[in-house]
This record gives sequence, structure tokens and C-alpha cells, in this order.
Amino acid sequence: MPLEIVRNDITRMEVDAIVNAANNALLGGGGVDGAIHRAAGPKLLEECRTLNGCETGKAKITKGYDLPAKYVIHTVGPVWHGGGEGERTLLSSCYRESLALAKAYDCETVAFPLISSGVYGYPKAEAMQVAVDEISRFLMENDMTVYIVVFTRDAVELGGKLFKEVTAYIDDVYVADHYDPYREAQRSESFPAAAGNGLFRRAHREDTARNETIFRQTEMAAPKANLEDMLSQIDEGFSQMLLRKIDEKGMRDADCYKRANVDRRLFNKIKNNPAYRPSKQTALAFAIALELPMLEAKELLMKAGYALSHSNREDIVVEYCIMTGNYNLIEINQVLFRLDLQPLGY
Ligand code: APR
Repeated sequence: MPLEIVRNDITRMEVDAIVNAANNALLGGGGVDGAIHRAAGPKLLEECRTLNGCETGKAKITKGYDLPAKYVIHTVGPVWHGGGEGERTLLSSCYRESLALAKAYDCETVAFPLISSGVYGYPKAEAMQVAVDEISRFLMENDMTVYIVVFTRDAVELGGKLFKEVTAYIDDVYVADHYDPYREAQRSESFPAAAGNGLFRRAHREDTARNETIFRQTEMAAPKANLEDMLSQIDEGFSQMLLRKIDEKGMRDADCYKRANVDRRLFNKIKNNPAYRPSKQTALAFAIALELPMLEAKELLMKAGYALSHSNREDIVVEYCIMTGNYNLIEINQVLFRLDLQPLGY
């Protein structure tokens, strides 16, 4: 998945390059800086001494030494002074300069901490927004896998307003779908046990009888199809519907799979194999990237062999977003991350 938010210690990330939230001297410090120098060993400091420091908003690269990462990209974020001293511009530059260096050194995987959001005091939610905006912009034009590493799950207020709305919706829907009036009535004093049994038993009997009648009518109406006919009328598959919708929307393939947070190789597998069955997260990601209305989203999902279910919290999050017209996949993934649920894409 091109952009993923993960909870980890950045010094443990097995990627081509990790980014260090350094200071202008480049001679180590606390926080991420201290952790990276401790994990890399003394040779990192020796090499840093040869770099003559680093300006705020700029980035310099060294080897990774004892770290799992091959390189360390040192960048210096702005100190937060309230937002009126060009902090956002400088912080954006940190991500842009670091990504440019990673690309120049042929890195395929890079991990960022939330630069400036610790000692330098940049508000975490805004720091995350700057990181997501700059990295997403870079990934629209480049193939790379970028991780934003947060130290603890609640470290960052992710997904803001949407998070509150979605959690309320999950509570409603989850309860509604698991509400058992029979048991509820038995629990409440207003229904004496005997009446409760009688009422709900009769309702249940009528329901069952009605469903059986509908089934029989449908059964009688359907012509006796045979397997051959059915197989000869096979519908378009997931891949065909996806490509058709991309055309109908006037999108380039790359626009679609990048907006779906799906990497190019996986997209090409889907495109070149009409029978390919993607994961549910990938199918949902394309429904969001194509901004499909609910019915078409369900149709695309069905062609991959899935359905939205109220017993699945990821599905409820996506259902809410489609219903409210929120097709911001990164924001949806931030909410899924905060809820410890599987992100969309791959
Ligand atoms: N892995 C991932 N994230 C981490 C780690 C870690 N091992 N340690 C800290 N963090 C998180 C913090 O929780 C914070 O959200 O990284 C973010 C950046 O925090 P800082 O390391 O304090 O960096 P910054 O705010 O940019 O301040 C830089 O602090 O350590 C000194 O020498 C450094 O002077 C420089 C200043």
C-alpha cells in the first residue's frame, strides 16, 4: 500500500530509509533523534559530523549503520510558534526534500515520524495533515511505499470530525443489527413474561409463513434454467467493471489506483486477469476512489465476491462514508487506523 500509517518504533522499521526529526546541528538529541542515534551506533554521529549541520526545512542523508534501514534521512522541522511564522511551509519542505533524497537514492520504502510534533510543539493533528498532504502529492507522481510511524495509537487525533461521526454510527448500526426485541421485551418489566412469549412467538410464526410463500412463488415463476444457460450468461467480472468505471469517469488508470492507495503492480494484475479476485479492502478502496454511489459500490464489491455487512466494523465505516459522500480515502484510513481496523488499499 503506497501510504500507510503504522504504530511502531521507527528504529525497528525494515525499510530502505527512515527519516530522523533532527535539529540544525545534526549532532543528536532526544526523541526520535536520540532513539535513532542509539540504535544506529556511534558511526552515525561520526558521519553526521561531516555534514556541517542542516537548515530547517532541508534534508541530508547518511548510512543506517546498525539500524535495519539502509539510510537515515535527517531533516529539521520548524519549532511551532503559533503558525504565523511559516511553520507549515517549512514542515512541508521537510517531507518534500526527504522524499526527493529517498528517490535520488532509489529507495522503494521510506518511514517518517511525525516531524516537529514532539519537542518542537507542532500540533499533532496539523502535523499529520501536512505529512499526509505532502506524501500523497509525491505518490501521485512516484511509485514508493511510505509509512507514517506514530509511536502510540492515540498519539495523534486522527480522522477528526469523521472519527466522532463514524463511531456514533457504528454504535447505532451495530446495536440495531444485534437488537433482539424478544430478549429485550423479556428483560423489560412492561411485558409480563407470558404475553411476551405469545406476542413474539405469533409474530415469528407469521414471519416464517410469509417468507415461505414468497420463496414458493419465486420458485414457481423462475423458468427451469440449466447450468449451461447460466454459465453462458456470465456477467462482467470485477476487473471489467473496474476498467469500465475508470473509462466512464474519464480517469487515467494511475489516477484511480493511486487514489485507491493501491500499488501499480497489483493494479496491473487486476487489469490483466479478468478472473482476478482482489481482497475486500482493495475492492472497497476502488469503490471509494471511483466515488461510486452505494448501489454501484455494492455491485463492484459483489463482483469480487463480497458484500457489505453490519457485523463487520470496516464495512460500517465505509458504508457511512459512502452514504455521506466522504470519498477521502486517506481520512477514512486514519479513522480505520484509530479504530485498530484494516485500512483500505494494497
Ligand atoms: N519512533 C517513532 N516515533 C517516535 C519515536 C520513535 N522511536 N520517538 C518519538 N517519536 C515521535 C514523538 O512522539 C513525536 O510525535 O516522533 C515525533 C517527533 O518528536 P521529536 O522526536 O521530539 O521531534 P521534533 O518534535 O521534531 O523535535 C526535534 O527534538 O529530539 C530532539 O534533537 C531533536 O532538537 C530536535 C527536536
